[in-house]
Amino acid sequence: MVPLESVRVLADDAGHAPDYVHHRGLVDWIDEFAKRAQPNKIHWCDGSKAEYDSLCQQLVEAGTFLPLNPAKRPNSFLARSDPSDVARVEDRTFICSTHRADAGPTNNWMAPAEMKELLEEVFEGCMQGRTLYVVPFSMGPLGSPISHVGIQLTDSAYVAVSMRIMTRMGKAVFDVLGEDGDFVRCVHSVGMPLAPGEKDVAWPCNKEHKYIVHFPEDQAIWSFGSGYGGNALLGKKCFALRIASAMGREQGWLAEHMLILGVESPTGEKSYVAAAFPSACGKTNFAMLIPPGALHGWKVTTIGDDIAWIKPGADGRLYAINPEYGFFGVAPGTSQQSNPNAMATLSENCIFTNVALTDDGDIWWEGMSEPPQRLTDWQGQPWTPDCGRNAAHPNARFTAPASQCPSIDADWEQTSGVPISAFVFGGRRSTTVPLVSESFNWVDGVYMAATMGSETTAAAAHKVGNVRRDPFAMLPFCGYHIGDYFDHWLQTGRNVKHPPRIFAVNWFRQDDNGKFLWPGFGENMRILKWIVDRCHGRASAAESPLGWMPHYSDIDWRGLDGFDFGRFEKLMSVERDLWIQELLLHEELFVKLYDKLPKEFVLKRELLLATLWRSPLRWTPPA
Ligand code: OXD
Ligand code: MN
Repeated sequence: MVPLESVRVLADDAGHAPDYVHHRGLVDWIDEFAKRAQPNKIHWCDGSKAEYDSLCQQLVEAGTFLPLNPAKRPNSFLARSDPSDVARVEDRTFICSTHRADAGPTNNWMAPAEMKELLEEVFEGCMQGRTLYVVPFSMGPLGSPISHVGIQLTDSAYVAVSMRIMTRMGKAVFDVLGEDGDFVRCVHSVGMPLAPGEKDVAWPCNKEHKYIVHFPEDQAIWSFGSGYGGNALLGKKCFALRIASAMGREQGWLAEHMLILGVESPTGEKSYVAAAFPSACGKTNFAMLIPPGALHGWKVTTIGDDIAWIKPGADGRLYAINPEYGFFGVAPGTSQQSNPNAMATLSENCIFTNVALTDDGDIWWEGMSEPPQRLTDWQGQPWTPDCGRNAAHPNARFTAPASQCPSIDADWEQTSGVPISAFVFGGRRSTTVPLVSESFNWVDGVYMAATMGSETTAAAAHKVGNVRRDPFAMLPFCGYHIGDYFDHWLQTGRNVKHPPRIFAVNWFRQDDNGKFLWPGFGENMRILKWIVDRCHGRASAAESPLGWMPHYSDIDWRGLDGFDFGRFEKLMSVERDLWIQELLLHEELFVKLYDKLPKEFVLKRELLLATLWRSPLRWTPPA
């Protein structure tokens, strides 16, 4: 057998595995991949600050990064993507399980052998003229029993530096792997080889072909053609949700599209809540909320803003970690008003992509403040407030270290995770869904989460119908059949001795004039307080047709003037006819999943209908 040190990945001198790598399977895999992709060079990332700085400098020289004004935004950069490469590409995202039935009707599928043949062809020579970066990363704190390791091979330095912010990236990962540890194999190419002497572009990508492919049975990801966000930072949606959800099903745990926050009471009691919302429902704002001053002594801390990995603990509770190390958040709409903690997090050491540039070398986006008189827009064009275009792309992003967040929880890196007391599910609904309710039991809560819907922001207000069902906010992220996923949740409730309580929230209900009834942001603390008090058996509730709901008097209204009982009723009412229409929409989802629909769901829907049938036209909680 060839000793590891002498394994030459390429014909030139750059391919040796560093001497701290002792995993033969890993080196052989890289060797095989490099022979196919044919990069010029191989760079094994060690994760050091010096390496990060030098890669950023290289990106500046390549025109990918523009350094921001160090007096305003130290050690931060602006990247402008190709205008065709600005978001996740769900229609090019595949789950390639052996059987189509294991991917289910909500995922694109292709037979693994067929897809592998196709990808091998597409990846042939795809890194010519480029450097292959070997990016070792841990999702979750190194050494935590809840964490898992991945290795990403990529030809994008932008991805390598972003991965250092978003994951625990660097050579310590090889200590965890040892000689034969398991890891998720992630390969990524921007899909734009360079001929000898060909000049590179600032944002290489492939405009014709994009593939974001998952092989859950091999724990492998192949991504081609895009350099943007979830398509390219493979630790995030691809690994931490799609592959991990399939691993969790096999191994008895949960990988969820959830933020995790801590709630501290005035007496210092700490509770943790995990909450799932579809994109564009203010997840990051909720994860970092600042309670109103009138709720003296209540505090919210942040563990994560997007993904939770949750495993059963020996004490019969569920324990969660945030597998990520940074925030990759939507920039537009983030402001000192909506999320002061996020704004403070962004003060230095960040990468901004597709935001606007101010004349003094700082960043700006819609919703941050009054628009400046002049900007350079996300495509590098001059911009003025009356030009009729967005200055920042609506999916412009910040990439920021989580450790810089002022509300980060003291235990966010705790290897044992934090115990979850409540799951919260929400969507954007202008009608129908009350501000908050608690499910009667676990099965009920799973039904509620599975039938969750959200209006796209462009949807006409006040209409039931323009609602996209997004079960558990996992529709684009579940790595297997969503019907099996519901079953896995039901099974988790049976296996765990102390399952968390389950709540539904809707911050977005409107009055007859299309005005939001609930102020949201920090005021959401009032609802969070009721949720936590319920978990500790301290708050009362009324029985509604949908679940337990707070009486008006159960919510702490201190400091919120003008929020009278009438307004509360409007937010909380259960309108019988709207709910009967809603059940028909549940049915539409169930028909799609017919062969794998848990029998509990059919019974639960019948029960809900029976309850609504005998409830008043409009049910409201008592004072
Ligand atoms: C995200 C998303 O980018 O959910 O987090 O789309
Ligand atoms: Mn998300």
